[in-house]
Amino acid sequence: TLSGLSKRQLGLCLRSPDVTASALQGLHIAVHECQHQLRDQRWNCSALEGGGRLPHHSAILKRGFRESAFSFSMLAAGVMHAVATACSLGKLVSCGCGWKGSSSSPGPQDTWEWGGCNHDMDFGEKFSRDFLDSREAPRDIQARMQIHNNRVGRQVVTENLKRKCKCHGTSGSCQFKTCWRAAPEFRVVGAALRERLGRAIFIDTHNRNSGAFQPRLRPRRLSGELVYFEKSPDFCERDPTVGSPGTRGRACNKTSRLLDGCGSLCCGRGHNVLRQTRVERCHCRFHWCCYVLCDECKVTEWVNVCK
Ligand SMILES: *[C@@H]1O[C@H](CO)[C@@H](O)[C@H](O)[C@H]1NC(C)=O
Ligand SMILES: *[C@@H]1O[C@H](CO)[C@@H](O)[C@H](O)[C@H]1NC(C)=O
Repeated sequence: TLSGLSKRQLGLCLRSPDVTASALQGLHIAVHECQHQLRDQRWNCSALEGGGRLPHHSAILKRGFRESAFSFSMLAAGVMHAVATACSLGKLVSCGCGWKGSSSSPGPQDTWEWGGCNHDMDFGEKFSRDFLDSREAPRDIQARMQIHNNRVGRQVVTENLKRKCKCHGTSGSCQFKTCWRAAPEFRVVGAALRERLGRAIFIDTHNRNSGAFQPRLRPRRLSGELVYFEKSPDFCERDPTVGSPGTRGRACNKTSRLLDGCGSLCCGRGHNVLRQTRVERCHCRFHWCCYVLCDECKVTEWVNVCK
């Protein structure tokens, strides 16, 4: 039902529908996390919610802005993360638990050993590559930038792998432990990539269709860093050609002097003050054992909204 899959993606979908479904779920999670990470920015990833199409069809992902770079890395990380997690949960036929970590096996005096179910990072990484990286040698800087930033996203998942352990032994003791590698919470990946967005590297291209940054001009300083090649617009107004929804109607913070302040977010157009009512869970009580009961309360508050 999803439109806009490439021939290669359709092939993957036909061969591995279950893995593809996990990949799509990963894209969905990534778009949400992207919105969380950029919630105080004028461009906040909402434009990636592509109404039945892959986020990759949104206008901003045809461009070379830092926001494009960040989005690519988030989406690639999301696919890898979701597929690896689904593998370890035994949900997919073509993968299961990953390798039993041998590279850093415990020493003889340690009382734990590898076991359990490692999240299958290798499988997740490979599927993310197959699904998102174009197979042909990339011809233009845009394609190269995409592949580079995809890789950065996946690298951040790998860098944040955690060791999780479970204790065995007489009750309460932790005489023996079994440990496995698990993917980090996706929030951790989002935060790490947000940090890299802050130090993304601008690639000055005299000629977009030649050499640019690969392979001759891909020095070590680019490895692991997000790269972009176009200066971003201010994203103040709606402009479909750059994937900008504009900031009219955005809730802003009147007292903040940062990016979420009305001054910056509304681009000097000013803001309206609206009275808004929303329903939230309240008076929650814990019942022994084990459930929580809440009431629904109406909260009426004043909100500031960009003109
Ligand atoms: C993100 O921006 C869109 C469009 O400007 C807006 O509708 C949405 O509420 C914003 N999201 C958040 C979390 O502020
Ligand atoms: C608005 O910004 C101020 C100052 O940065 C902060 O203390 C406050 O918590 C913010 N309010 C909301 C609703 O985010």
